[in-house]
Amino acid sequence: MKEGAPEILVVDDNPFVLETTTLLLTAKGYRAEGCKDGAGALESFKAKAFDAVLTDVKMPGMTGIDLLREIHALDKVVPVILMTAYAELDVAVNAVKMGAFDFIIKPYKSDYLIHAVDKAVNYHRLVLLERDYKERLEEDVRKRTAELTAALGLVEAASRELTLRLTAVAEYRDTDTGAHIRRIGEYSGLVASGLGLKPDFVKSVTFAACMHDIGKVGIPDAVLLKKGPLTPEEWVVMKTHTTIGRNMLAGSPYPGMRLAESIALNHHERFDGSGYPRGLKGTDIPIEGRIVMLVDQYDALVSVRPYKRALTHEEAVRIITEGDGRTMPEHFDPDVLALFHRLAPEFDAIYKKYGDEYDH
Ligand code: C2E
Ligand code: SIN
Ligand code: FE
Repeated sequence: MKEGAPEILVVDDNPFVLETTTLLLTAKGYRAEGCKDGAGALESFKAKAFDAVLTDVKMPGMTGIDLLREIHALDKVVPVILMTAYAELDVAVNAVKMGAFDFIIKPYKSDYLIHAVDKAVNYHRLVLLERDYKERLEEDVRKRTAELTAALGLVEAASRELTLRLTAVAEYRDTDTGAHIRRIGEYSGLVASGLGLKPDFVKSVTFAACMHDIGKVGIPDAVLLKKGPLTPEEWVVMKTHTTIGRNMLAGSPYPGMRLAESIALNHHERFDGSGYPRGLKGTDIPIEGRIVMLVDQYDALVSVRPYKRALTHEEAVRIITEGDGRTMPEHFDPDVLALFHRLAPEFDAIYKKYGDEYDH
């Protein structure tokens, strides 16, 4: 918004009209700049901001109508008032249709002129005020949106970290480190994306798979940390880590948590129906369960457990793809198994990446 006296650009090729008009405006508290032709007026207009333009219609060279068009090409909202002889009235009326703010008939009465200029100046200041307000509003919205996005990102990251840390409590006892839970997420995302599942699902499963074994928090040390093979009674207890995990995660309104609940429950089901806790078969097992079931075994095989040494990548691949009596190829979803065949080197890479830096 401009402060102070309104600035009016006056254009007329008649020196007498030009002088009396600028004097009149000045006497009424305006600041008036006079120009004797359209070309000069355009130069002044480019150099300085005006509240209104008052121009003669009929001038040698550039006419008032030409000037109107040129000025509105530079500034759509500045009001242009035409001064016209009565004989040119139809031209002036047409000019208003083209966007002139108003016209006055020469010779004009000073009251009429001042009234028209006042109206134009008020109109112009209101338009600028509104434009300024809109710009500030938009700027404000932009700023708040950016702040909200940043805050949301922080909350998401914090909740992710909290989940990982709490999950690590459950995992810390029997796995070498908390790195296992991160790797399970990474392999699961890799497989989900290889299966062509939606990016949203890939993202969710990467996060949710980390919680697959959270139910181990409810398994006594005597069973979980036992160095040797489990007795049938101990095995019954061990298998409940699936349902304990499901119960821990159940009933969440968040889709990511519901996915985690499904994974906790279903990550030991086998495709041939010989798994636990429910003995589901084939595609009755949710896809997230079929994915995590394989990637969990890979990671367990290549890792140290209280009851087993770490196998090499090649040994693990052979057990999963060819079987060893305990693990058999028919336990796996054939599509997931085929994908594992293809992506095995990337599993190895993930294990190495999340081995050292997280192991301490
Ligand atoms: P975990 O140690 O994380 O192992 C996850 C899965 O990887 C196992 O599920 C199994 O399918 C596979 N796996 C792990 N080690 C081997 C292996 O040496 N050979 C083969 N073929 N597969 C292996 P599973 O069998 O349902 O076991 C679930 C959990 O039960 C295990 O998680 C572990 O915490 C516990 N567990 C299993 N066997 C024993 C054991 O002999 N002693 C003790 N103390 N715990 C055991
Ligand atoms: C694991 O999933 O890491 C071990 C097997 C299980 O979940 O019991
Ligand atoms: Fe498990």
